[in-house]
Amino acid sequence: MLRTHTCGQLRLENVGQRVTICGWVDTSRDHGQTIFLDIRDRYGKTQVVVNPDSGSAALEIAKSFRGEDVVLISGRVDRRLEGKDNTKLDTGAVEVVAEEVRLLNRSLTPPFFPNQEELPGEDLRLKYRYIDLRRTAMQNTLLLRSQIIKKMRDYFADHQFIDVETPILGRSTPEGARDYLVPSRVHWGKFFALPQSPQLYKQILMVAGYDRYVQVARCFRDEDLRADRQPEFSQLDVEMSFVDADDVIGLIDGLMVKLAKEILGIDLKTPLPRMTYDEAMRRFGSDAPDLRYGMEIVDCSDLARQTEFRVFRGAVDSGGFVRGLKIDRRAEEFSRKRIDELTEFVKHDFAAKGLAWFRCEPDGSLWSPISKNVEPTVLEGFKQRFQTSPGDLILLLADAWEVTCKGLNGLRRKLAAELKLYDPAQMHFSWVVEFPMFDHDPEENRWVATHHPFTAPRPQDLSKLKETPDACRAQAYDLVINGYEAGGGTIRIHDSGTQQCVFDLLGITPEMAVNRFGFLLDALRYGAPPHGGIALGIDRVVMLFGGLDNIRDCIAFPKTQRAMDLMTEAPGDVELKQLRELHIQVETPPVKSK
Ligand code: AMO
Ligand code: AMP
Repeated sequence: MLRTHTCGQLRLENVGQRVTICGWVDTSRDHGQTIFLDIRDRYGKTQVVVNPDSGSAALEIAKSFRGEDVVLISGRVDRRLEGKDNTKLDTGAVEVVAEEVRLLNRSLTPPFFPNQEELPGEDLRLKYRYIDLRRTAMQNTLLLRSQIIKKMRDYFADHQFIDVETPILGRSTPEGARDYLVPSRVHWGKFFALPQSPQLYKQILMVAGYDRYVQVARCFRDEDLRADRQPEFSQLDVEMSFVDADDVIGLIDGLMVKLAKEILGIDLKTPLPRMTYDEAMRRFGSDAPDLRYGMEIVDCSDLARQTEFRVFRGAVDSGGFVRGLKIDRRAEEFSRKRIDELTEFVKHDFAAKGLAWFRCEPDGSLWSPISKNVEPTVLEGFKQRFQTSPGDLILLLADAWEVTCKGLNGLRRKLAAELKLYDPAQMHFSWVVEFPMFDHDPEENRWVATHHPFTAPRPQDLSKLKETPDACRAQAYDLVINGYEAGGGTIRIHDSGTQQCVFDLLGITPEMAVNRFGFLLDALRYGAPPHGGIALGIDRVVMLFGGLDNIRDCIAFPKTQRAMDLMTEAPGDVELKQLRELHIQVETPPVKSK
């Protein structure tokens, strides 16, 4: 080793020792005959003093050091002068008085410095990711990620799980996003698909008798990216045999207790709270509600039936709903301009037709530009329903069920953040269970699987499969942390009759089923145990435990929102020869008309 200590190691007890440290020049302050350097590595920073005692050669070399040069310093550890301690640094009580100063490698002037206060734009950070990763915040997050993954692995090993790797080159899996395809050179015109998740393999492992499977699995989905979505991400993937939903949920409860305790020092009470999907949509308009604050949705559709006011009455008469939120005692913070902005927000982001509002006046009455259109009895009804007090503000959407859900969920999240209704350091864990088996796709007028086509219905809903598929609820569960879906799973169908029934509903013909999942259907006929599982999004778990709001900051080398790696410039061009070998021809892009 070139070094005897890291830059985060030296303490008072090392005073008097001869040491060698290596690292990057973080700062250098030149006082003529004395140069102070802060040398940094991933463990911390150590102050180095180069002075005439170090020798003129050493002084000369130290003077030439620039930020981010890689250097080696040997010298004696000294106590810092009285009153010069740096309490912000672990090494702040000592300094190294240099005897040997060596430049190991010069750095070009970087496009930004890891210690600069203002963060550069994200594109620059991603292009020069190796500089960005030198920042303490990034180092802490990657360290946290590593710790979380280690604890997850320990937990599952302690519970008799076997870690099994599954292929990256496989067949298309039915998670519902677009696949990344890999052309086969050997088989003309055929393609592998990168796994959207190891779903089918883990079910096959259950048939094979590996009744407790776990893997840190890479997943690939070509979908629209957001702050919590990457095209390539990691799951903690789990499958178990001879279990029901409670068993899987209980196992993950235990993992959350361990992580919350060991990482955040929080004692979680189990079982973690559970709520059905229907209740979540009713109370919060979201299947991943943020439960760190209240502001629940209130349904006033019955009151809307009693008014002649066109906006409310029209909505319910056409099968819609009138639902709203109440902001407690802060109406004075909502100018007309701010309300107009909220109206634009719900119209633009959620296709709402408008936003109605009422302010509760000092005398307890409800006022708004539309209050004269609404009968006093109905206004009284709103007051009762929302339990208003003076200073409260009510926001109402009159729209189709889905629009009221999405719009009010959007408003609730936005307002809670703006009004600081929760402490950002607070964590809330819960489960949403009993998701619908199917969603209706109005464009194609067909049913799609809410989770995936192998999800088992609740036993009591089996009979509804054929007649009322929309009323059929699944043995499905999502782990929700602070309003994010951190994980999701289901109990699977393990008999081919039910599987066939679900395929029929989804419009998957027996031929298509055999063609796409024939191997799974076969396996289900060769002694498949009842089984189920879950996958946690590791990037999201790290984001939430790290108090961050973007998963790109939890991944060493992430892609941009446009699915590019700015450092390596992937995706990139390939040689024509490579394409020929793969029997691929690239169409020239259509010329865009101006
Ligand atoms: P699902 O599709 O719900 O389930 O994914 C499980 C979890 O993975 C995370 N996740 C993502 N994280 C980052 N970027 C993405 N693009 C992304 N997509 C999903 C989420 C999500 O909760 N095979 C099933 C699991 C099962 O049924 O056992 C599956 O993949 O945190
Ligand atoms: P209008 O007569 O369409 O201008 O609407 C009168 C008021 O009702 C305005 O403040 C609108 O923002 C509001 N409004 C209109 N449509 C809706 C709706 N679907 N839900 C809630 N408020 C609405």
